[in-house]
Parts: sequence; structure tokens; C-alpha cells
Amino acid sequence: MKILVLNGPNLNMLGIREPDIYGKSTYADLCEMIEAHAKETGAEVEIYQSNYEGDLVTKIQEALGVFEGIVINPAAYTHTSVALLDALKAVAIPAVEVHISDVSKREGFRSISFVREYCFATIAGHGFAGYTEAMDMLMNAPGKRI
Ligand code: DQA
Repeated sequence: MKILVLNGPNLNMLGIREPDIYGKSTYADLCEMIEAHAKETGAEVEIYQSNYEGDLVTKIQEALGVFEGIVINPAAYTHTSVALLDALKAVAIPAVEVHISDVSKREGFRSISFVREYCFATIAGHGFAGYTEAMDMLMNAPGKRI
């Protein structure tokens, strides 16, 4: 299965940003973990991070006909972006929303998610493990394979 893992703004700062919330492991550690899980499970994975909303929209559009599943942590764009929701709806690729922290236990605005309306599951507060759990969910979900 071909899975696209998308990460939004400031996730490249993992290990540096608010370690009490996001932990001390780096973005490179996260990528390594995702790639190791893909190898173990036989999935093909591409990981992409951007601080720009439009880049993430374009990446979702380009996933059409290429990827069979999307793991998305839109980071701050979770709480603001109708454009990401519309892009996911446009390509109609099964997607799982991931948050490292438990957004439901933080500031009120973090409980709002636009992409949640499209994603078939949300994993929040499981740390980096949320990404591999999301990959497993996609691999076990019914859906067309390219
Ligand atoms: C986050 C939670 C968001 O509220 C925040 O803006 C992020 C990261 C998480 O993974 O916990 O940047 O998506």
C-alpha cells in the first residue's frame, strides 16, 4: 500500500519546540520511525512536511492516482484550514488525522478540526506512535488499491 504522510507547520521543529508537550525526539526521529514501520509492514511511504498551507494542498492534489492512503497531521492548519478539508474531499483518498498531543485537553481552539469532517479516524495524544497506528488503520481499511 502506498501511503502519504503529511505534516504541517512547525512539525519540523520537533525536539526543539515545547518538549513538555511534543517530547524531545526530533522530526528526523519521527521520519525514521515511520520508514521503519513501512519496511516492517511492506507499505510504501512518502513523508512530506511544509510550513505552507498551499504546499500541503498541492501535495494532496498530487496524491490522486498515486497514493491509497493519507496520514495527515495538519498541525496549526487543523484548526483553520477549509482548503485542506476541500483538498482531501477532492481526491477522496482514505485519510487518518493524527496529533502528537491530546488536542482535546489543550486550549479550546485546538478542539476544532476542519479535516476531521473528512478523515475516517482521528488519533490524538499517542505521541509519535499515532503515526504508525494511523498507517495500520489505513492498511486494514477497505479501499481500492492502485
Ligand atoms: C498538533 C496540535 C496542534 O494544535 C498544533 O498546532 C501543532 C501540533 C499535534 O501534533 O499535537 O502544531 O497537531
